[in-house]
Amino acid sequence: MTRVTLLPGDGIGPEVIAAAVRVLDATGAGLVWETAEAGMAAFEAQGDPLPEATLAAIRDTGLALKGPLTTPIGYGFSSANVGIRRQLDLYANLRPVRNIQGIASRYEGVDLVVVRENTEGMYSGIEHSVTPGTAVSLKVVTEKASLRIARFAFDLARREGRKRVTVVHKANIMKLSDGLFLDCARRVAADYPEIAFDEAIIDAMAMHLVMHPERYDLLLTGNLYGDILSDLAAGLVGGLGLTPAGNIGDRIAVFEAVHGTAPDIAGRGIANPSAVIRAGAMLLRHVGQLEAAAAVEAAIEGAIAAGVRTGDLGGDASTEAFTRALLARL
Ligand code: NAI
Repeated sequence: MTRVTLLPGDGIGPEVIAAAVRVLDATGAGLVWETAEAGMAAFEAQGDPLPEATLAAIRDTGLALKGPLTTPIGYGFSSANVGIRRQLDLYANLRPVRNIQGIASRYEGVDLVVVRENTEGMYSGIEHSVTPGTAVSLKVVTEKASLRIARFAFDLARREGRKRVTVVHKANIMKLSDGLFLDCARRVAADYPEIAFDEAIIDAMAMHLVMHPERYDLLLTGNLYGDILSDLAAGLVGGLGLTPAGNIGDRIAVFEAVHGTAPDIAGRGIANPSAVIRAGAMLLRHVGQLEAAAAVEAAIEGAIAAGVRTGDLGGDASTEAFTRALLARL
């Protein structure tokens, strides 16, 4: 029995999370769900998008599956997503990206993982207006966080049998902040002689990724670059409806879809639940339930290959119909 905090979230969140719970339960993995609130739903009900009770619940189980949470753009409360990562010290954001059988893509043979530093960099949230018309955001890079994420990336590469780590930076311009991040990656790389290590500047990396994504294995990068590159990488292999993410700390892990609340389709029963279900598969793998994780992945690939697809993948299956196709395969 494994206790998991469940955050249904906003927009399409409750729809796709409900689908995920049914599919994960069907594996017989014995997950026990404990529901908590965050995001706009929590703000409206409790006046706080990230209630202390929710953080306490996640600390208690050490494991969560979350739906997307609304963040007002350019005003209002700060992101509860970023809050969860920072307050629970989930310092590594992990986004695996690979081709799915049956999904048309311009690229074949893509199998890479983006490891993004999740707690500082441009997302430190330290901003102020200097004078009217001038605003400043501080980018914070520390040796401690940079060494920690580099070690996480190399350990992951070793565990998954990945052959190469590429650190992505802009140290030619940000010589101190990105320079420190790069230096830490180089120091850690020296401890993993069996794993090839190379370096790429973020702008060149963006180009290389859309030209030859199959050449990359593990990308280690900072918070903002990782955010952008992982969406770019998701787009290479079929889009946001498919891509999961893990936010991992030393004791706590929170899994989610990369996509947001999709307000344009919320409440219509047509969202693709695959990304959050695959996030559930990452969760299963994280707790050592490898067979159940593989069964979930295979069910998704089987359903898609058989032509059961939601609208974002060019089909007309509802969330319910797609979920039933997975349940039938489990
Ligand atoms: P979004 O990912 O919600 O939507 C972008 C486009 O992709 C929309 O056209 C949407 O319909 C489509 N889409 C997304 N997920 C889909 C799915 N599962 N099935 C079918 N189509 C799907 O991004 P957007 O519109 O920029 O953000 C909306 C809200 O979500 C904002 O408040 C934002 O802050 C929040 N957000 C939350 C995230 C999280 O909780 N981790 C991540 C990204 C955004």
